[in-house]
Amino acid sequence: MELTYRPRRLRRTPALRAMVREHQLSAADFIYPLFVHEGASNEPIGAMPGAQRWSLDGLIAEVGRAWDLGIRCVVLFPKVADGLKTEDGAECFNEGGLIPRAIRRLKEVHPGMAIMTDVALDPYSCDGHDGIVSQEGVVLNDETVAILCRQAVAQARAGADLIGPSDMMDGRVGAIREALDEEGFEHVGIISYTAKYASAYYGPFREALDSAPRAATGKPIPGDKSTYQMDAANAREAITEAQLDEQEGADILMVKPGLAYLDIIHRLRNESELPIAAYNVSGEYAMVKAAAERGWIDERAVVLETLLCFKRAGADLILTYHACDAAAWLRQG
Ligand code: PBG
Repeated sequence: MELTYRPRRLRRTPALRAMVREHQLSAADFIYPLFVHEGASNEPIGAMPGAQRWSLDGLIAEVGRAWDLGIRCVVLFPKVADGLKTEDGAECFNEGGLIPRAIRRLKEVHPGMAIMTDVALDPYSCDGHDGIVSQEGVVLNDETVAILCRQAVAQARAGADLIGPSDMMDGRVGAIREALDEEGFEHVGIISYTAKYASAYYGPFREALDSAPRAATGKPIPGDKSTYQMDAANAREAITEAQLDEQEGADILMVKPGLAYLDIIHRLRNESELPIAAYNVSGEYAMVKAAAERGWIDERAVVLETLLCFKRAGADLILTYHACDAAAWLRQG
């Protein structure tokens, strides 16, 4: 054949392929999600092989391991004892609570590691919702935002670097920004869960924290989060959310879940100059782990390909439970 263009020319050798590679993965792209509980030992999580509910000591050790692998940010999620869960989730702003204590200890031992927190009521709510549920079964917006502001300030006071509102209440980014500034935390950033969809991919996470919606008090409790998290059918709405978060002062925009929502990552990349993060969520992790355990896929190859594809779609940062494994694989080259 007489072909002018032969794209295979640039795929012929590893050196040529490396020269024209458009995206790279690095450990500095990862944010490592970690679960923490009050127990003295680490507890495995059924649907998330390799992940644990860490004790405080276990958490310190795991963050040290992550640091040594080049990871520079972790995000913390608490498994809160049932006895501390209430309708208003007030434990979330207890400055002596699990998360503030974990942050303080981490900052003592690993001062260089950036710490991100999650802002929402679900781990602290006896109803298992991200906001306060009214007697009629409605998740209240403005009342919830007032509590989220107190939660964010408690986390900032403990030393958090990045506050991550995951609740999807309207106006929370602006309110949290104002609350942080009023308390002297103008240097603390907001990584907003901007386009967070009502998704079945969060199942293993809710198992890890025992935080799924449940009717515990006799009032009607919505069985899912679809009155505040986004509808999987919608893409334009993600742009509206991104514009609002940006106007309200978000520093980083996040899309969640990740894999089935690469188009949303790409759209936000084109709409905003802010850094974009993708959350490779618990259900995505569980699927890879389950197939790998059966020998049906090559875990290392699938994970590195998946994470690279988040970058290609437009993500600068990736929250992933694979962070340590992936960082170790990247070192091996
Ligand atoms: C809490 C929160 C959830 C996740 C992160 N923060 C669960 C939910 O919204 O129900 C899910 C993360 C994952 O599945 O890995 N608001």
